[in-house]
Amino acid sequence: MASRGFFNAFADVWLLDGVRTPMVDYCGALGHISPTDLGIKAARAALERAGVPGEHIGSVITGNMAPGDFDQFFLPRHIGLYAGVPVEVPAIMAQRICGTGFELFRQAGEQIQGGACEAALVVGTESMTRNPIAAFDHRTGFKLGAPVGFKDYMWEALKDPAAGINMIQTAENLAKKYGITREAVDEFASASFAKAVAAQESGFLAGEIVPVVSEKFELEGYKARGIRLQGKVTEVATDTHPRTSPVEVLAKLKPVFDGGVQTGGNSSALVDAAAACVVSSGTYAKAQGKKALARVVAAAAVGVPPEIMGIGPAPAIRLLLDRTGLRLDDIARIEVNEAQGAQTLAVARELGMDLARLNVNGGAIALGHPLAATGVRLTLTLARELQRSGARYGISSACVGGGQGMALLIENTQA
Ligand SMILES: CC(C)(COP(=O)(O)OP(=O)(O)OC[C@H]1O[C@@H](n2cnc3c(N)ncnc32)[C@H](O)[C@@H]1OP(=O)(O)O)[C@@H](O)C(=O)NCCC(=O)NCCS
Repeated sequence: MASRGFFNAFADVWLLDGVRTPMVDYCGALGHISPTDLGIKAARAALERAGVPGEHIGSVITGNMAPGDFDQFFLPRHIGLYAGVPVEVPAIMAQRICGTGFELFRQAGEQIQGGACEAALVVGTESMTRNPIAAFDHRTGFKLGAPVGFKDYMWEALKDPAAGINMIQTAENLAKKYGITREAVDEFASASFAKAVAAQESGFLAGEIVPVVSEKFELEGYKARGIRLQGKVTEVATDTHPRTSPVEVLAKLKPVFDGGVQTGGNSSALVDAAAACVVSSGTYAKAQGKKALARVVAAAAVGVPPEIMGIGPAPAIRLLLDRTGLRLDDIARIEVNEAQGAQTLAVARELGMDLARLNVNGGAIALGHPLAATGVRLTLTLARELQRSGARYGISSACVGGGQGMALLIENTQA
């Protein structure tokens, strides 16, 4: 596949620090919280962790896919304001479905490099639970006996009408194209669960999580809002989906589509979460005496055929490598979002990737995939993993429904 697409290189853009909420299975303990409030929570915690006062932020760049409340139009603005960013600072919503989180970094990089701001707050947030049950054609009225059009937005949104198929079916197409068996997908999924459980047990994942508690978000002169946990829950501090999942157990699960390789056990889990990072210029970091987690080196976005959307990370990563002059061997750690097991394996096979460098702390099969938060979460985990392992280069990437791929190259400059 040719390396065509969209590429940005950044000379002096830095990921200072970041944090995320736990990723909680949908309809669980975060299910009643709007994506705006999850985003405010993560944004406040990211600023605190980075030691950057809200007044220093010059741009708020947020991402969210599913409307999770009636105030969704205001989501970027409210995240900025209630996180303590000054009223004069603008906020925007970006959407590239599962590539949204990377796009937030790309826009931050462009803005900082172009001199629009010194520091940006990037926040990806998603409540899969609060995907609405929606209808679009009722305002003009019902005809007697006409079908009522309410549908599950999440289930419908996972279908691409251009190709006439569901996202899981795009992975089935890749399984056929690359000769990937159910056994191989289950084996990959089982390993993802094992790596995530190990990363949980070692405390590595806890290091990037801010526990969610009941709290008020005050904003002087405006209505307070906040999070109130339900029932007897007082704190939500851990990811809920990882569990030991032997291949034999996964092998017994029914495929989503008859004869297919994808099941509920080897596809990305549906979870609610938000992740936020502070990105700045080197000049700002130096002036403030900040030690960054990683340098944001380059971003790439590409298009691929909609019916094999899951292959997107392969040409996006190729484009990054072509344009930066690096080889895949130079990349010590790679995150490919595990939208579906067959999809991730197809990307690995297409690139001839060493699986030992891939998703070393588990992926979305085990941890979950909160669409617009995913790219921020993956990049944060990757930056921390580079620090932990003392490795230099890392790439985080995801496929994107409709047929795109996006990838971000980061560098641990202390390596
Ligand atoms: C695959 C998918 C349809 C499954 O949805 P679901 O049927 O609600 O999934 P569940 O979590 O209920 O899992 C199905 C079954 O597998 C079981 N299961 C899931 N993971 C398991 C594990 N690790 N170990 C054991 N059992 C497991 C569940 O307990 C459930 O069993 P049950 O039917 O007896 O209750 C859904 O997760 C999905 O669409 N994921 C992909 C999302 C996506 O494509 N995102 C965008 C990418 S572009």
